[in-house]
Amino acid sequence: MPRHREMALLPLLILLCLFSSLAAKGGRFARLGINYGTLGDDLPSAARSVALLRSIGAGAVKIYDANPAILRALAGTRLRVSIMVPNEIIPSLGTNASLADAWVAAYLTPFYPAVRVRYLLVGNEILSYTSLANSTWPFLVPAMVNIHRSLIARSIRDVKVSTTFAMDALGISFPPSAGAFRSDIAEPVIRPLLRFLHKTRSYYFVDAYPYLAWASNPSSIRLDYALFTANSSFNYFDPGSKLTYTNLLDQMLDAVAAAMGRLGFGDVRMAVAETGWPNAGDLDQIGANVHNAATYNRNLVQRMAARPAAGTPARPGALMPVFIFSLYNENQKPGPGTERHWGLLYPHGKMAYDVDLSGRRPLASYPSLPPPENNEPYKGRIWCVFGGGRRAASNATAVGAALAYACGQGNGTCDGIRPGGPCHKPNTIVSHASYAFNSYWQLFRRAGATCFFDGLALQTKTDPSYGSCKYRSLAN
Ligand SMILES: *[C@@H]1O[C@H](CO)[C@@H](O)[C@H](O)[C@H]1NC(C)=O
Ligand SMILES: *[C@@H]1O[C@H](CO)[C@@H](O)[C@H](O)[C@H]1NC(C)=O
Ligand SMILES: *[C@@H]1O[C@H](CO)[C@@H](O)[C@H](O)[C@H]1NC(C)=O
Ligand SMILES: *[C@@H]1O[C@H](CO)[C@@H](O)[C@H](O)[C@H]1NC(C)=O
Ligand SMILES: *[C@@H]1O[C@H](CO)[C@@H](O)[C@H](O)[C@H]1NC(C)=O
Repeated sequence: MPRHREMALLPLLILLCLFSSLAAKGGRFARLGINYGTLGDDLPSAARSVALLRSIGAGAVKIYDANPAILRALAGTRLRVSIMVPNEIIPSLGTNASLADAWVAAYLTPFYPAVRVRYLLVGNEILSYTSLANSTWPFLVPAMVNIHRSLIARSIRDVKVSTTFAMDALGISFPPSAGAFRSDIAEPVIRPLLRFLHKTRSYYFVDAYPYLAWASNPSSIRLDYALFTANSSFNYFDPGSKLTYTNLLDQMLDAVAAAMGRLGFGDVRMAVAETGWPNAGDLDQIGANVHNAATYNRNLVQRMAARPAAGTPARPGALMPVFIFSLYNENQKPGPGTERHWGLLYPHGKMAYDVDLSGRRPLASYPSLPPPENNEPYKGRIWCVFGGGRRAASNATAVGAALAYACGQGNGTCDGIRPGGPCHKPNTIVSHASYAFNSYWQLFRRAGATCFFDGLALQTKTDPSYGSCKYRSLAN
């Protein structure tokens, strides 16, 4: 290239550099946080995980217990950290202040301030379990108060105390302006909680999943409305507030805001403890794919990292800490296939799709995505068979236990593989397990049974029937 042309470019380059450094200093973005769950037997070490968190631009991380190895790996980094206090110890921390203080002494002070802990979240979605109504709910706010007092006594003033609730804390969530807490918890739990959050200037942490709302009702909610990509002709106008909504997440968050306002605490700030979109799922699950997951999370970052903050229609400009769920696909989570596929990263550390949590990357700069393959419900038949995973192959004990479980649920589940039955041969544990898993799942799937069996089972579109051995299957 001729020299004079390089020279001509120089002033422009200097200007560009100046501009981008000003933009960075001006704080036009706030990095998003991420949930770092560890329910997988194939996940990278804590140190490698922290390196990965930084490489994807995370500004904060939330962990589900005070895991010392993870906290040690976070020491000295700039990452802001949220630590969850397990549900099981809420009653004891709520009834005995010295136990709350002992928890702080054991799990916080050894790491603080080298680890930039910013939130202690007491309990995970406890209001979603009515089995905890008597044993745990009454002790939630007392446990938070006891932990807060312990922090103050130790002159720790930059760690806030809160808890996390799912959207089911609301009895009414639509239209958003009608948002109201469930009547069984509004007075006994929520009002004292909001009083505490208000007094300590802490946040209400909500787990808000447009995916779950859409997937349970895909015929009445538009997918693009859940993915932040609906055009303006599909905006929702809330007649109660006269506010206009462009996406489902805003609607959900404003329903929570309205519910807080209804109890007189409309000024309590909100944080999103979990949100995200699964990158895969079972054959009978809808919309869980890389295309949608990338679209949701990229748009989420773009909205939530922008400064000044967009907020929501009811709370324009509100700053909201946001934690995406989650860092990894976690292969040991029970339940439907989506549960094991919320990760931005696969367990070996490769990204499921590009996403930059710093908010600096423009949407248009991402490479294009594979087309979504399951945005419509799958109508064909599905069977559930032995999957022969890595663990399964070497562990006949585990397969035997799963087989016994499936057959133990009654209703003739395993009649076909009894001696003399049409599926008895081949008389191998793997063949019998396949039959039993399928038989069990077909019978109980409507009641919520999943095709998992600790990772031993797998869904298939291929009919495993052979000879006179017939595998049953319900059409979806
Ligand atoms: C609270 O816990 C401490 C430490 O275990 C114990 O010594 C004390 O007796 C407990 N107090 C009550 C009221 O149970
Ligand atoms: C909680 O206590 C109430 C009143 O004693 C009782 O009716 C209810 O069954 C209990 N609930 C649970 C989940 O134990
Ligand atoms: C919005 O999308 C609908 C259906 O895809 C289309 O008919 C309409 O022209 C679009 N409107 C705008 C304002 O882009
Ligand atoms: C086999 O599975 C059983 C039950 O799930 C488990 O306790 C055991 O540790 C496993 N053994 C091996 C070698 O993986
Ligand atoms: C299993 O058998 C029980 C008892 O006969 C019956 O009440 C139940 O409905 C059956 N369940 C299914 C899923 O068929």
